[in-house]
Amino acid sequence: MSSHRQDLQYMSIVNDILNNKEFIKIRGIEHHGISRYDHSLKVSYYSYKIAKALHLDYEQTAIGGLLHDFFLSPENRTQKDRLKSVFTHPKAAVEMAKSQFELTRKEEDMIRSHMFPINLSVPKYAESWIISMVDKCVATNEFGVKFRFRLKYAYNLFLLCALSIMKF
Ligand SMILES: [Fe+2]
Ligand SMILES: [Fe+2]
Repeated sequence: MSSHRQDLQYMSIVNDILNNKEFIKIRGIEHHGISRYDHSLKVSYYSYKIAKALHLDYEQTAIGGLLHDFFLSPENRTQKDRLKSVFTHPKAAVEMAKSQFELTRKEEDMIRSHMFPINLSVPKYAESWIISMVDKCVATNEFGVKFRFRLKYAYNLFLLCALSIMKF
């Protein structure tokens, strides 16, 4: 995942976040077999590209995607902690993001609702739906790599779903 670095427009949108002291801390946290930082960058960049192609708000999408999992986890988490975090981390990420950045309503919605339907916060904006779906595809792929099976078509499947939804 280095193509985002060559995308100067994307980099200018997310530069402040990538250089934030608190945000940099998620580099050291394991998330689906990679770092939470790398996972968040993938969700942000792919969502940004899709939002741009669909003429949606790609700037807020890039920001919301980057901050969607912005929360710190204690070292040596138990399985129970991890399970609990599945349900509670969107709220923790909203609080953490708000403590460091000014969020728009849409960006807050993207973070809060990205785990729908696992939590019951329904995405209110098309951009929030994109992040929620991209997150699931990226996570599925990361888990596939982690557990040594690769779902090669996850991204293509997502694109097909997104395009059929947008046709309505
Ligand atoms: Fe998440
Ligand atoms: Fe995520």
